[in-house]
Amino acid sequence: MRLLFITSNEGKFREVKEIGKGYGHEIEWLRIEYEELQGNTIEEIAKKSADLLSKEVKKPFFLEDSGLVIHALNGFPGPYSSYVFKTIGNKGIIKLMDGVENRRAKFIAVIAYFDGKDVKTFKGEVEGEIATEMRGEHGFGYDPIFLYNGRTFAEMGDEKNLVSHRRRALEVFFSSIG
Ligand code: IMP
Repeated sequence: MRLLFITSNEGKFREVKEIGKGYGHEIEWLRIEYEELQGNTIEEIAKKSADLLSKEVKKPFFLEDSGLVIHALNGFPGPYSSYVFKTIGNKGIIKLMDGVENRRAKFIAVIAYFDGKDVKTFKGEVEGEIATEMRGEHGFGYDPIFLYNGRTFAEMGDEKNLVSHRRRALEVFFSSIG
């Protein structure tokens, strides 16, 4: 199936395109920079953004909103992941976690799909840990500090796509559209 994906993030697009291919879907990129609305949860932000964009785009599309959740920081940065990345970045997160023993964290991805009529959401999560230093050259965003089974996502290259939050959300989404 041919599916329209809205994002301004090239790294995200590449991953979604690659994962889509494995499921027999052709992902077309609609590169729109949309204003990210604030919300209490990642689902709420994804849903609100898709509702707003549906009025402009007027044909089926999907978008994806993701976030990093650090358990010892009560879920921070969560829905503020984008702002936190732009302001303090990976180095800032490592500093915040200095001396913190519980390093458990997860990534959440929520896909919002506008089917031409309604917006539906699909969620994927992956558990990992916050590294004590940045490692790896691949990926984007928080990948160099997110440890999955001893390697950071930035060290895993394409293997990230087999286990990531994005992969898991897309799996649920694709199985719902058949
Ligand atoms: P958004 O979904 O583009 O709003 O992402 C929120 C923040 O999380 C941005 O700073 C992204 O760079 C970061 N982010 C989203 N997905 C990933 C990922 O798969 N790996 C690392 N960082 C990510």
